[in-house]
Amino acid sequence: MSCCRIALRSEKAWYTELLGDVAGTNLMEKYSDEKIIDSWHKNASPWITAIQERQIESRKRVTDSAITDVLVSLAGHSVLDLGCGEGWLCRKLASLGLVTLGIDAVPELLASAKQASATLSSAKPSSVVQGGKVEFRHIDYQSLSAKVVEEKFDIAVSNFSLLGKESVERLFNVVPDMLKDGGYFVVQTLHPVISCGKDPYKDGWRGGSWDGFSREFVDPAPWYFRTLESWCDLFYQHQLQLVSIKEPIYPNTGSIASLILVGKVHR
Ligand SMILES: C[S@@+](CC[C@H](N)C(=O)[O-])C[C@H]1O[C@@H](n2cnc3c(N)ncnc32)[C@H](O)[C@@H]1O
Repeated sequence: MSCCRIALRSEKAWYTELLGDVAGTNLMEKYSDEKIIDSWHKNASPWITAIQERQIESRKRVTDSAITDVLVSLAGHSVLDLGCGEGWLCRKLASLGLVTLGIDAVPELLASAKQASATLSSAKPSSVVQGGKVEFRHIDYQSLSAKVVEEKFDIAVSNFSLLGKESVERLFNVVPDMLKDGGYFVVQTLHPVISCGKDPYKDGWRGGSWDGFSREFVDPAPWYFRTLESWCDLFYQHQLQLVSIKEPIYPNTGSIASLILVGKVHR
């Protein structure tokens, strides 16, 4: 995710992996969906600060408005935010009159999300378009299903929060059933061409890094790299027709900031 600069495997990360191996650490555990959640538990507090203080340049300059613009253009009313973190996107959409439900695996992030949305509902009525609503629930991708969350949504969105392997595949299995007919699944992620670095351009686990972030961040999450073709296949294989692919760019440099994929459910 460019948002947290989890990107190229550094030499240091490589040695850490190697040492982990020598010490008998199971590589599968280190590079696993469980490890991702474990890392987010450890980094919830500095993450909340980084988002609320707008410390991430790519978000400030490009990607926050890029995802908001795409979602608003779809003209839906209800939005399921998968891996909502501290909930900024739900709050933003609610302020525009949408009804949002954010889910995440990390209670500390959700506590912050709930607290900030309480402030939103007590804000001046003029700052919130009537009808806007936010709710947050503690649910991870592994346990999400149309039975666990019974509502049907116009849009499901995932903003830099599809990081793993099996958990993401599982999410694609269940999300179409949680959408209304004609609903959309929108994913903003690292652009694979940019985030691949010097590694081979093929799917696989990569080590994480908090380079560029404050020293309070620890134990970066691994992430599962997908090529553009693999991202597209995830949509096509799960009743989702890709209707738009966007590549937001930095206005000052013209370089790519992210990738946004918009799939429309067809059953
Ligand atoms: C980079 S943060 C993005 C948060 C938010 N979408 C945003 O735009 O600020 C990634 C989020 O994904 C969540 N996440 C990662 N794996 C998850 C899983 N298996 N189930 C639920 N949430 C998960 C993390 O807890 C974290 O909040």
